[in-house]
Amino acid sequence: RTQLRGDEVIVVSNREPYIHEKQQDGSLVVRRPASGLVTAVEPVMRACSGTWIAHGSGSGDRAAVDRHDHVPLPPGEDEYQLRRLWLTEEQEQGYYYGFANEGLWPLCHVAHVRPVFREQDWEHYRNVNQLFADAVVAEARSEDPVVLVQDYHFALLPAMVRRKLPRATILTFWHIPWPNPESFGICPWRREILEGMLGSTILGFHTRYHCKNFIETVDRYLEARIEHEHSTITYGGEDTLVESYPISIEWPSPEEAREWPSPGQCRTELFERLNIPAGHRVAVGVDRFDYTKGILERLNAVERLLEKHPEWRDRFTFVQVAAPSRGALEEYRAFRERIERATARINERFGRPDAPVVRLLAQHHDHDQVMRLYRAADVCMVTSLHDGMNLVCKEFVAARDDERGVLVLSRFAGAAREMPEALVVNPYHVEETADALHQALTMPPAEQRERMASLRSTVHEYNVYRWAGRMLADAARLRLRQRVSDRV
Ligand code: F6P
Repeated sequence: RTQLRGDEVIVVSNREPYIHEKQQDGSLVVRRPASGLVTAVEPVMRACSGTWIAHGSGSGDRAAVDRHDHVPLPPGEDEYQLRRLWLTEEQEQGYYYGFANEGLWPLCHVAHVRPVFREQDWEHYRNVNQLFADAVVAEARSEDPVVLVQDYHFALLPAMVRRKLPRATILTFWHIPWPNPESFGICPWRREILEGMLGSTILGFHTRYHCKNFIETVDRYLEARIEHEHSTITYGGEDTLVESYPISIEWPSPEEAREWPSPGQCRTELFERLNIPAGHRVAVGVDRFDYTKGILERLNAVERLLEKHPEWRDRFTFVQVAAPSRGALEEYRAFRERIERATARINERFGRPDAPVVRLLAQHHDHDQVMRLYRAADVCMVTSLHDGMNLVCKEFVAARDDERGVLVLSRFAGAAREMPEALVVNPYHVEETADALHQALTMPPAEQRERMASLRSTVHEYNVYRWAGRMLADAARLRLRQRVSDRV
């Protein structure tokens, strides 16, 4: 951050950094979302007084939010500026729901849901990327701003900005996985997407594995020069550094942790709220309602546990928080129905009317509620079928300052590479996941402590500030190199 002090920073993301909500009485409430991205990037914005460009939330219903195009942030402090772009319903449908979430999302996650590629979605995606790229150029006060591009919504934007601001330092972070060249190759616009991304100075993924997949994809479909030793791709005379920056969470401050109720208190509250019979062991899952998260596989493992180990019947409750997500898409609605049917089936087989085994809480829960749930649980299950990183597992570990609780973690989440002390499973293998759940529920306290202490020290050290810090340090280094070579 200090290395970039004085430089201009522009962030581009689909979501706004703050949520502006109009109350029934007409007043406006501004909430900060529980997002690692805002936590990590905001200190940089404050230091550099930059601009954050985002899609105005509630674009289709602008009366629901405040309508200003430029908003000073953070609320009441005015240290940087939010620039909102308003999209029409058709644009939002084509760019966000269509190409980004029915095309790129399943394409990159390879969770066995077919990507859908529609010509008109692609058109909207391209136009919206151009709209945002134009806004970057319009907002830029210098010829060489640092542009931080977030995620798969903006694959084309880096090259669009590069054409207008050739001296900009463009850092693109791809928050989801990158598949192998064969999988990616089915995209009708694979060339345009790769060329768009290669407008970046630095292209970041969560893991080395995703970097390798990206480099191999470029090697397969473009005539580019690849320098494996330096992880650099040269295309159209421009260099792109492809590097891994594993994202993380903000480690709770001692003041915040002191405010938390004890795990015992969290447990009592949870048992009362959900009417869980005394003496039950509790496992939790916390996700968006998304088919990549492996919620169905997790429920199948719970069912298998109860088949194999009758001793857990009447002694075990599974709490699944599932925040509604992308509900306008048929695939997401159908997925939710599948989860509801599986929940009903398991409860029918193994629960009692007054004590269902599976509690499906299909609502948004705020950060505080989720932290209490983590502290109350014996086990946390993260069984994504594929995930760039996954922050639930890191939040669970951060919540357990008592060094108790067991994490069951999918080997297909990026986080598994950093967290081998978890019980790492293949979520497609129901038997293995059920066995891991049994192992977690019977793990002696000393072993829990040993594993948890080690996980906590990793997440504490590799926190979200390090994620942003490493990327920005690389950017500062490349800017310096450019300045030196300009002088030669
Ligand atoms: O994992 C990718 C991601 O874009 C996250 O950054 C974000 O939290 C999540 O998906 C939610 O997606 P959406 O913005 O579509 O609700």
